[in-house]
Amino acid sequence: MKAWRFDGKGGSLALEDVPKPQPRPGGVVVKMEAAPVLSYMRQVLDGTLGYALPSGPFIPGTNGIGVLDAVGEGVYHLEPGERVALNPHHLANERVRDPAQILIGLTAIGSARFAGLDAATKVLQADWRDGVFAEYAHLPAAAVTPLDGLGDLPAERLAALAKFIVPYGGFLRGGLAAGETVIVNGATGGVGSIAIASLARLGYHVVALTGKPSESEWLLKLGAREVKLRSELDLTKIKPLDRAMWSGAIDNLGGEVLAWMASMALPCFCCQTVCSLPGLRYGRKVWQRMEC
Ligand SMILES: NC(=O)c1ccc[n+]([C@@H]2O[C@H](COP(=O)([O-])OP(=O)(O)OC[C@H]3O[C@@H](n4cnc5c(N)ncnc54)[C@H](OP(=O)(O)O)[C@@H]3O)[C@@H](O)[C@H]2O)c1
Repeated sequence: MKAWRFDGKGGSLALEDVPKPQPRPGGVVVKMEAAPVLSYMRQVLDGTLGYALPSGPFIPGTNGIGVLDAVGEGVYHLEPGERVALNPHHLANERVRDPAQILIGLTAIGSARFAGLDAATKVLQADWRDGVFAEYAHLPAAAVTPLDGLGDLPAERLAALAKFIVPYGGFLRGGLAAGETVIVNGATGGVGSIAIASLARLGYHVVALTGKPSESEWLLKLGAREVKLRSELDLTKIKPLDRAMWSGAIDNLGGEVLAWMASMALPCFCCQTVCSLPGLRYGRKVWQRMEC
């Protein structure tokens, strides 16, 4: 089969002929239909963003849509022929405090990414090193979700489901209740716009913060109740414990704007900062719910 292989940090990405994978116990092989490319994939692969890539050559690519081609032993609910969505988040299913976690085809995550990869994370990443930029992808069974009832939609549209995972998963973890106010910075981007659309439908009061005045109407149509422009913020006057405005924030940019959002937080504020855009100051994801 054909696959895009990256030959290690600082190396190159090339379309190569590689053996079609066979599913191992607990694994599935998916015939790929569509896979989104992250806007910052180049900076992931050239090392600018400091992601914890698998060591040695691997097939990059995180999410996508495809049809199950084969399932390995120990897979109980999935069958060849089913159309599925792929999600790269995989963690060791063991009852320990900080199980190893990876985003398949991208990076190791969790505390191991920042403290240096521990042995368990390295082994997990070596076991599931290849992502989805291939004709056939081999993933753990838990990484695929059957697309019941969505069979007619084109794969390239369904591939956008990938963007819902970050804000939705984050807000589940943060424990905010519908009706609370949430501010989204970087509102017009992939993560920001999906966060607005999904949080608005879940009943949150969403404030969109953007650098693009021309997109205000679109952001309101997505479900934002208010649109704020970053150019109108006075970032020279950030005061700790300023007027309490929001219970939660999704932040794609970091820097002073993150400090401004945090200064206007209600008690029990939770903030998902997901920024790793090239050239921006913050490079890690933090989910923090402050204690009341
Ligand atoms: N942790 C995770 O699991 C995860 C998953 C996906 C993405 N992410 C991270 O989330 C961030 C956003 O990803 P995305 O896919 O939404 O990116 P994107 O589509 O490129 O959008 C980024 C948005 O940020 C704003 N922005 C302001 N200054 C910018 C600058 N200098 N460069 C680029 N954008 C700028 C713009 O929106 P406005 O003008 O409306 O403010 C832009 O639309 C990235 O840092 C990415 O690494 C994290």
